[in-house]
Amino acid sequence: MKKSHLKILSQKFLVVAAALLLSQISFAQSDGPLREVYKNNFYIGAALNEENILQKNDASNILLESEFNSITAENVFKWEKIHPSEGEYNFELPDKFVALGEKLNMQMIGHTLIWHQQTPEWVFKNSDGNYKSREELLTLMEEHITTVVGRYKGKINGWDVVNEALNEDGTLKQSEWVKIIGEDYLQKAFEFACQADPNTELYYNDFSLENEPKRNGAIELIKMLRSKGIKIDAVGLQGHYKMDWPTTSQLDSTIKAFAKLGLKVMITELDIDVLPYNNIPVGADISMNVKLREEFNPYPDRLPEENQNMLAERYADLFKVFLVNDESVSRITFWGISDDESWLHDWPIKGRTNYPLLFDHSGKPKPAYYAVKKIPKESK
Ligand code: XIL
Repeated sequence: MKKSHLKILSQKFLVVAAALLLSQISFAQSDGPLREVYKNNFYIGAALNEENILQKNDASNILLESEFNSITAENVFKWEKIHPSEGEYNFELPDKFVALGEKLNMQMIGHTLIWHQQTPEWVFKNSDGNYKSREELLTLMEEHITTVVGRYKGKINGWDVVNEALNEDGTLKQSEWVKIIGEDYLQKAFEFACQADPNTELYYNDFSLENEPKRNGAIELIKMLRSKGIKIDAVGLQGHYKMDWPTTSQLDSTIKAFAKLGLKVMITELDIDVLPYNNIPVGADISMNVKLREEFNPYPDRLPEENQNMLAERYADLFKVFLVNDESVSRITFWGISDDESWLHDWPIKGRTNYPLLFDHSGKPKPAYYAVKKIPKESK
C-alpha cells in the first residue's frame, strides 16, 4: 500500500475513534455530568497518575474536564517522588499538575506531606547509616514542608499533611517519625504547613476510620492537636471500600462523629474493591502483598452484569450517606478516573483485574455511574 493511502486510512481511523469517544461522552452527560449533578453538595474529584498529568490518555482527559472539579495527584507529591535524595527536588510533574489544575479551573489537593510509606530511607538515616537525631529530622521536615507547600502557596487548596498515623486499635503507629521525633511530630508537621501557607486547608488523612477503635483514636488525636492551638480543617476518609465494608451506618456515624468536632469530612480516595479478599484485613495498608491465586481473580475478562448491578447499588448506598451529610462532607475524590488506571489491579494482590470506579476500562460510564447520578434527584 502506498504511503499516502496509509495516511488517509489512519486519518479516517482517528476520526471514527474520536466520533465514538464523543458519542460515548455525550451519552454520559445526558442529564449533566457528575460535577454538575452534585454542584450544590460537594466537589467531585479524581486522583491523577503521571499519564493523566501529562494528558496522554484522550478518554481520561475528556472525562476529567467534563465530570470532575477537583484533582489530587496519585503519587507525584509523595516524598520519594518530589524529594528523592538530599537537596534534590523534582518539581517537573507537580508543576504540570498545578498548571493543569489552573487551566481546567480545578480545586487542587496536595497528597501527601508526611507518611511512613513512599518515603526514602535517607530521610531517617544519615550517610553513616545511623538514625538522625530529633533535631536533624525536625530540621529536614521543616525544610521539606516549607519548600513544597511554599512553592504552591495560594495554588493548592488543601494538603494531606499527615497520612495514616494510626494503628487499627487507635494507637499511634510506631513509625520512624514517632521513634525519632516523638509523638509531637504530627503537631510540628501541621505547624510547618500552616506557616508555609496560612490560607491552605490542612487535613489528617487515613483509612478504616470507619472502624470504631481507630475512629476513636483519630478523635483523640484531633482533640489533642486542637488543644495545642493547631489548625486542622478536615479529616480525610480514604474510602478504599469493599462490597460489604464499611456498612452504611458505620460510615454515617463516622462522618457525624468528625462533623461534631467542627471538622469538614472528605472522602479522599474512593474506590470499591469487587474482588474476593478472604483473610485480607480491610483498609489500605500499601505494604500488603498477597500471593496471586486463580480464585482471587474471578473476572479476568469482564465483570458479569449481576456484579455490575451490585456495584451500582453499593455506590448508590454510599452516595446516599454522603448526600445526607452534605453539610459536613465537602469533597468526594475517586482514586483514579477509569478502571484501567486503578491501583487495585496490583494491591493487595499483584496482577488481578478489578472494576472499582465509575468508568470502565475504556472510559465508558458503568451502571454505577448512572446510579450515583440518580441519587440527588431521588432524594428531592
Ligand atoms: C497508592 C497509589 O495509588 C499507587 O500508585 C502507589 O504505588 C501506592 O500508593 N493510601 C494512600 C495512597 O494514601 O497514597 C495510596 O496510593 C493508596 C492507599
